[in-house]
Amino acid sequence: MNLPNRSEPYITEIDKKHVWHHLTQHAAFSSSDPLIIELGKGMMVTDVNGREYLDATSGGVWSVNVGYGRKRIADAVADQLTRMCYYAGTGGTVPGAKFAARLVEKMPGMSRVYYSNSGSEANEKGYKMVRQRAHSSGARSKYKVIYRNRDYHGTTIGALSSTGQSQRRDQYGPFAPGFAEFANCCCYRCPFGKEYGACEIECAKDLERAILEEGPDSVGSVVLEPITAGGGVIAPVPEYFPIIQNICRKYDVLIHIDEVVCGFGRTGKWFGYQHFGVQPDIVSTAKGAASGYAAISCTITTETLFDSFKDDPDNPMDYFRDISTFGGCAGGHAAALENLAILEEEKLVENAAETGAYLLESLADLKEKHAVIGDVRGKGMIAGVELVSDSRTREPASEGYAMRVAAHCNKQGLLIGRTNRSLEGLNNTLCLTPALIAGRGEIDQIVQMLDRALAETPLD
Ligand SMILES: Cc1ncc(COP(=O)(O)O)c(C=O)c1O
Repeated sequence: MNLPNRSEPYITEIDKKHVWHHLTQHAAFSSSDPLIIELGKGMMVTDVNGREYLDATSGGVWSVNVGYGRKRIADAVADQLTRMCYYAGTGGTVPGAKFAARLVEKMPGMSRVYYSNSGSEANEKGYKMVRQRAHSSGARSKYKVIYRNRDYHGTTIGALSSTGQSQRRDQYGPFAPGFAEFANCCCYRCPFGKEYGACEIECAKDLERAILEEGPDSVGSVVLEPITAGGGVIAPVPEYFPIIQNICRKYDVLIHIDEVVCGFGRTGKWFGYQHFGVQPDIVSTAKGAASGYAAISCTITTETLFDSFKDDPDNPMDYFRDISTFGGCAGGHAAALENLAILEEEKLVENAAETGAYLLESLADLKEKHAVIGDVRGKGMIAGVELVSDSRTREPASEGYAMRVAAHCNKQGLLIGRTNRSLEGLNNTLCLTPALIAGRGEIDQIVQMLDRALAETPLD
C-alpha cells in the first residue's frame, strides 16, 4: 500500500484530548501517541501518520479473522442496512435466520442461536440460562458456575465474576455470588507441581473438587475457554476434556464453552472445542463471528436446553426473559453470513491449521535460539511465547520486558500482542494471532522480526 505521507496531527491531538482508551494508562501519552489506525488491507494496517505495520494480532484482540478490507462484507452490510437495518430480537431479520442455520451446521449437536453484541454479553446469557433453568426445573439451587483459573470471560460484572485473572478483577469487586474457581491447565507451570505423564491430569480432576466443595446440588455449569487465550495461550492435553465431560455428566453440570477467541477457525477447526472430543451444552462466540466488520455475538445452545425453557406453555414466566437491543442489528447478521462464506470459500479454517502449524514450528525453532523463550504453546493461528529470565528455574520475565519486546517489534513495523495486566507476576507471554489468511511468507516475516526484537532487547 503506497500512501502519501498522511500525517494527521489533528486526529492524534483530538484523540488524546477526548478518547478514553481501553486497557491503557493515559500517562504514557505524555511521551507517546496512541496507535490510531486509518487503513487496513489484508494483514497490513496503516496509521494516521502513514506508517505501515504487519498485523500479527488480527486487530489487537484476535478479531479480524478474514483480514482487512473485505469489500464483499462491506457490500453485504451496506445492502442489508439500506434494505432493513434493525429489528429487535423478539422478531427477526432475514440474515439472522440464515446465519443461525449456517452456524449450527458447523456445530453438530447444537441448534439454537441467541444474538447479542459482545463476548461478555454472550457469556452472561449463558449464565442467565443456567440460573433460570435452575429455578424452573425445581432444582432451585443448581445455579452456580464454575470457571477456570487464568480464563477470561469478559468485562461486565457477571463475566468478570467468572474470570480467573487476578489483575483484571482487581478493584472491581465485590463480585456476583454463585461463581467458583478451579485450577488452570498450564503444564509449563503446573498448579500441582507435576509433570505431564505422571500427573493423572489432576488439573481436570480439580473440577470435581470444586463441584464437591460448592455442593453438587448447587452447581449448574462450568465455563471454559477451549484454549485459554488472554491468560497466556494454554491448550489442554488430549486427556483433559474427556475428564471434564465425565465429571459434568456425573454431577449433571452443563458444559459452557467460551469460543469468543477460538471460534470461527482461529485454532484450525471451526470451533476450538472440536479438537478435544467434548460436546458442549452452551457455546458463546463473538470476535471472529463477523471478523470485526460489525458487532455481533451469539450464545448457541442445544435443543434440549432450549426446550427446557418452554416446558409449561401456561406459565407466562416460563421462557427466557432476556433481551439484547443490539442483537437485532441486521448489519451484524449480514456481516457474519458473508464472513462465514469467505471462511468456507477460501478454506481459511484449513489454512489456519496448516499455516498455524508452520507458525508454531517456526516459534519452536526460535526457542532453540533464545534462552529467554521458556515455552511455545498454541494451536492453529493462536500462539503464545512465554518469556523467562532464567530458563532453568522458569522465573517469569517481567511485564516490562515483554512490553519492550513488543515495542521493538512495533518499531520494525510488526504488531504483536502480549498478556496485559492479567495475572500478577505472569504477564510474560507474547501472543501471535495473525489473520487466517496468513501465508508462510507473512509467518516468516513475523518470526524474523520477533527474532530480531528478542536478540536486541536486553533483559532487566
Ligand atoms: C475468551 C473471551 N471471552 C469473552 C471475552 C469478552 O468479549 P467482549 O470484549 O466482546 O465483551 C473476551 C475478550 O477478549 C475473551 O477473550
